[in-house]
Amino acid sequence: MRHLVTAALPYVTGDIHLGHLVEHVQCDLWVRFRKMQGDEVVFLCADDVHGTGTMLTARKRGLPESTLIAELGAAHVKDFKDFGIAHDHYGSTDSPSAKAFVEAIWSRISAGGHVARRSVTQLYDPVAGSFLADRFVKGTCPKCGSADQYGDACEKCNATYSPSELKDARSVLSGAVPELRSADHCFIKLEDFRSFLDAWTQSSGALSGPIARWIKGAFLIDGEPLRDWDVSRPAPYFGFEIPDAPGNYFYVWVDAPVGYLGSLADWCAQDPGHRKRQDWWPMVGETPTEPLRIHHVIGKDITYFHTLFWPAMLHASGWRLPDRIRIHGWLTVDGDKMSKSRGTFINARTYLDVGLDPAYLRYYLASKLNGSADDLDLNLKEFTEKVNADLVGKVVNLASRCARMISRLDAVYPDDGGRFATAATEGSAIAAAYDADDSSQAIRRIMALADRANEYVEQVAPWSLKKDPARAAELAQACTVALNLFRQLTVYLAPVLPRLAEQAGELLSAPITRWSDAQKPILGTAITPFARMLDRVDPALVAKLVVTAAEPAAASQPAAPGTQAVAAPSTGQPAEPLAATITIDDFAKIDLRVAKVLSAEEVPKAKKILKLRVDLGSLGERTIFAGIRLGYPAPAALVGRLIVVCANLAPRQMSFGTSEGMVVAAGGGEPQQIFVLSPDSGAAPGQRIG
Ligand code: MSP
Ligand code: ZN
Repeated sequence: MRHLVTAALPYVTGDIHLGHLVEHVQCDLWVRFRKMQGDEVVFLCADDVHGTGTMLTARKRGLPESTLIAELGAAHVKDFKDFGIAHDHYGSTDSPSAKAFVEAIWSRISAGGHVARRSVTQLYDPVAGSFLADRFVKGTCPKCGSADQYGDACEKCNATYSPSELKDARSVLSGAVPELRSADHCFIKLEDFRSFLDAWTQSSGALSGPIARWIKGAFLIDGEPLRDWDVSRPAPYFGFEIPDAPGNYFYVWVDAPVGYLGSLADWCAQDPGHRKRQDWWPMVGETPTEPLRIHHVIGKDITYFHTLFWPAMLHASGWRLPDRIRIHGWLTVDGDKMSKSRGTFINARTYLDVGLDPAYLRYYLASKLNGSADDLDLNLKEFTEKVNADLVGKVVNLASRCARMISRLDAVYPDDGGRFATAATEGSAIAAAYDADDSSQAIRRIMALADRANEYVEQVAPWSLKKDPARAAELAQACTVALNLFRQLTVYLAPVLPRLAEQAGELLSAPITRWSDAQKPILGTAITPFARMLDRVDPALVAKLVVTAAEPAAASQPAAPGTQAVAAPSTGQPAEPLAATITIDDFAKIDLRVAKVLSAEEVPKAKKILKLRVDLGSLGERTIFAGIRLGYPAPAALVGRLIVVCANLAPRQMSFGTSEGMVVAAGGGEPQQIFVLSPDSGAAPGQRIG
């Protein structure tokens, strides 16, 4: 089977932000999933470069548009690449191939008699020398009188109107009072395609039920003709000139989707011997050599372009229609629309620059995407907790705990209580969930398997087997099971976390390439020295994310980088009074050391206590009972962490054992509000702190 998958083409003038990544992660994981199933898939995107916005930015910067879009385009490509988004080609709507397709499509639509021309009166900025799109005019709402509203709609009272109805209208470009000017525009007569659109949207299977019903109810209303679509703009405009209407340009939304075809043609041109355009997107009458499905993945805001205008254009010009329009919702951050002033309008680059691993975001978004057009929220606290508990605590820990204990997997797969077999069977349900864009369900199923794997490790406790040389065979068996269960999880997670799958392949000397790699344990291979796979999410970096993305309020002095304070969450507890002054000698009596957590377990009947086994380097290993359990509901997440321990505290006898030290943590209020301290990475167990 072949699949052609597109993500919507980002506007070149804006930065790639986390909202775009929702879409590209959805595509990327699906594409990787299908490739693991053995399908041939091409994943295409491009920058959407035409329109007034580009023209004005280029003018402002004194650059030709071509230079500007090359520069901005390169940044987009890099952003996506750094998030592991594996487009097969990332083009531009300004490419010669796109131009050829636009002209061919237009001439067929025109020849079919579907174009009308008539005069349109539009606001014009005489200073900037440009017609003004609705968003380039601001003024007072004609309905409620609110100032500073855009030309098409009022944000205060939600009224919609035309820009010429605004009171005290001003051009956003120059501040000039706009004039009304008339120009001839071309229109596509959409009503000509009504019966086609009705059939295609309602019964081709390209749209989900709710979207099909929405289109029907909002646009394809009986007795109400579809309005003609204004598809041209008079000069000056950055775009393709309309061949049979010189001095007029295709409106950006005409050539935007044609950019999908342009990107395909450019990808084919890179290897013309093996890639034929008609095998990936045929015209009516062309037959691809293999069965093919064409998918567009888009956000809900651009639904009608992809379900009415674009299908009408394709239909009118003799192209095959897409098989599926897959629509996702809008990303919110901490429950609200992304906002520049709150710092929640987060660019892809900002995320990378603060030092957060792209794998975290890929995992988190995958765990939320469910195939519906409902909005999804990036809750920063949940983001941190989920990644730490699931990826680090449940998945990577399996490997980090067991890979160091043996150097080769056993040649025979031991009895594991049916775990591997059950998880192998679960592969088809996980696959079905991915296939239906419900990665949220796929992740839930994978994490349930991870819980079962961890349960096994807890039961066999390889760390205690390791202490007894007589039990070396049992240890090897236990680790062979644990590492195979780990590997199986990484196969299932590979579409979301390709790097982790690669690392798992390296660790166990058995590369992961196909979905069926989860069906059989690997045996007898050498285990390479364990290399760190994924660090815990550092909440300090997440906090920095929002601070860095925040635009300083206009009135206040911009703070120096790194000095902007994050508002402290109000815990509602009184400030703790400062303790009595001590001397440096008093302080020196406290021997604080860096320690590494080897294991963290709950203690039966002690609701607040965790039993930690820690490594203090040259001071050896210790057992510490720490009152931190309520703050760490998934204790496994602590394993592997560096923490701070008071090492010269007198041992304390407790009902469940002797505690040989104290874990340093912040807290003192709510019992759940407890935060274990960690040194920066690089510190070594046993190092003295002072
Ligand atoms: N250029 C047009 C698309 C042309 S497709 C032929 C466009 N560009 S965009 O940059 O504004 O958006 C690109 C895609 O990102 C769209 O599918 C849009 O829905 C998606 N998103 C942009 N912001 C988003 C969120 N905050 N959340 C989720 N997706 C969002 O539209
Ligand atoms: Zn209003």
